Amino acid sequence: MATRKIVELGNETLRKKSKPVVSFDSSLASLLDDMKTTMVEKNGMGIAAVQVGVLRRAVIVETEPGEYLEIVNPTILKTKGKVKKSEGCLSVPGFYTDVERPKYVKIEAFDRNGQKFEFEGEDYVARCICHEIDHLDGVLFVDLTDEGKSYKTKKGVN
Ligand code: CO
Repeated sequence: MATRKIVELGNETLRKKSKPVVSFDSSLASLLDDMKTTMVEKNGMGIAAVQVGVLRRAVIVETEPGEYLEIVNPTILKTKGKVKKSEGCLSVPGFYTDVERPKYVKIEAFDRNGQKFEFEGEDYVARCICHEIDHLDGVLFVDLTDEGKSYKTKKGVN
């Protein structure tokens, strides 16, 4: 397991759409292991593969302290409610803004072995899952609020 370099706001890779994982092989396993090591080292609550420069649909979310859920090729099945709370991102260090997200989300996804599963999350877990899935489509939390848009303008980045 190794720490990988985090891709930061301003790098065009973050704006690309990630492709589905097709091989549930040892390279996926090392990618997920490295993503977890990187996220834990940086004190993140979630991470997407694109944040370490790999354009594949894989994310990890800390669902409880020390519990990490690996989510590959996710689909959102259902959302409920709306909550606006402070959010940050490993790719945008030092910036936080209140983002509206569903209070509840239900997803379908695959684990590292290609087994399909469903998962339901609420509150910060739902927030984190939605934030990470956005990364897979090149969307960043700074795109979703006026404060975030001003931050990008100030930094001169897209
Ligand atoms: Co993020």
